[in-house]
Amino acid sequence: MSSMIALEAVRASAALPFEQFATLPEDDIHVRIAAAKKALGKRLVILGHHYQRDEVIRHADFRGDSLKLAQQGVAMGDARHIVFCGVHFMAETADILSSDQVSVTLPDLAAGCSMADMADLPAVTTCWEELDEVVGTAAITPITYINSGADLKAFCGENGGIVCTSSNARRILEWAFARTEKVLFFPDQHLGRNTALDMGISPDQVVVWDPALELGGNTAEALQNARVILWAGHCSVHQMFLPEHVDMFREKYPDTRVIVHPECTREVVEKADCAGSTEYIIRTIRESPKGTRWVVGTELNLVQRLNHESPDHEVHFLSPTYCVCSTMGRIDPPHLLWSLENLVAGNVVNRIQVPEHDREWARTALERMLAAG
Ligand code: 13P
Ligand code: SF4
Repeated sequence: MSSMIALEAVRASAALPFEQFATLPEDDIHVRIAAAKKALGKRLVILGHHYQRDEVIRHADFRGDSLKLAQQGVAMGDARHIVFCGVHFMAETADILSSDQVSVTLPDLAAGCSMADMADLPAVTTCWEELDEVVGTAAITPITYINSGADLKAFCGENGGIVCTSSNARRILEWAFARTEKVLFFPDQHLGRNTALDMGISPDQVVVWDPALELGGNTAEALQNARVILWAGHCSVHQMFLPEHVDMFREKYPDTRVIVHPECTREVVEKADCAGSTEYIIRTIRESPKGTRWVVGTELNLVQRLNHESPDHEVHFLSPTYCVCSTMGRIDPPHLLWSLENLVAGNVVNRIQVPEHDREWARTALERMLAAG
């Protein structure tokens, strides 16, 4: 099931009783969340992605980037319930990697990822069939960024492919090139391009596949020559960072260090000092010498938190405009409270359950990623 279809299906069932929860005083909500957590004890683990707002992340037992949170889904110990403060593909990944006894809840089912919705199974299957005619798919490893539906992870599992995150994309491309001459990388063209070019692959061997066009808008010769075929997807938040924003900061503060997420365009990554996952960004800033001035190109909630939590560093946001991930923002304290109090009462609301066929093959693709290191 693509995440788009999943979201359609769940919109009908997602039902926070608005008048009961959304109008509660904020302090009361936090007290009740703490009480529900206490009642659930070790049976509950709350996972929080770094883009969650402060009022939500403060309740998370573990914070992380997509890779760290996926690993946490495997290491559940005695816990029987995961409440995932993140987006839909993350909750699906936790469901795939955790045991059948564990339930996964996404507090608001409208928390999707617009990038993940840019590739769906029918379009990727058409692409694969067209590539088979002009190149032969035996020469191609499909790689899906973890920001994708479970059915696309399953497609990769079933076709000798693998999943990657922004933390391990290079290692996963190396894994793929040890097996085949070419890769098909979806849905994020920027992570794919940034990783491939950093590995020294020539730009003329990197092409973009536009699913609206025949052969993705390429000639058969261009596809035969290509080593990396990138799906034409992107993150609407990270595309807001522009090369001129980096220039502006460098002009104002020549000593500034610029760090960005690899979902930013190539032009932005090339102008930055370094690029990496959210976890990498946090670690790099924390480990830098006291007094370092950083400009950060990733989602605003994380940058603001880094600013508060790193008093020894000066942390600025790269864009002059307000770039938040609005779908991550769907998870708010009222939805979290509602999910938890239902668990206390024995009801699992907004459960994410990947269908069996997708689950098996998606797990294969995810386990290949975890085994690759
Ligand atoms: P990370 O895995 O780096 O946290 O990235 C997830 C994401 O969705 C970035 O937009
Ligand atoms: Fe998806 Fe972009 Fe939001 Fe990350 S920041 S969850 S890629 S929309």
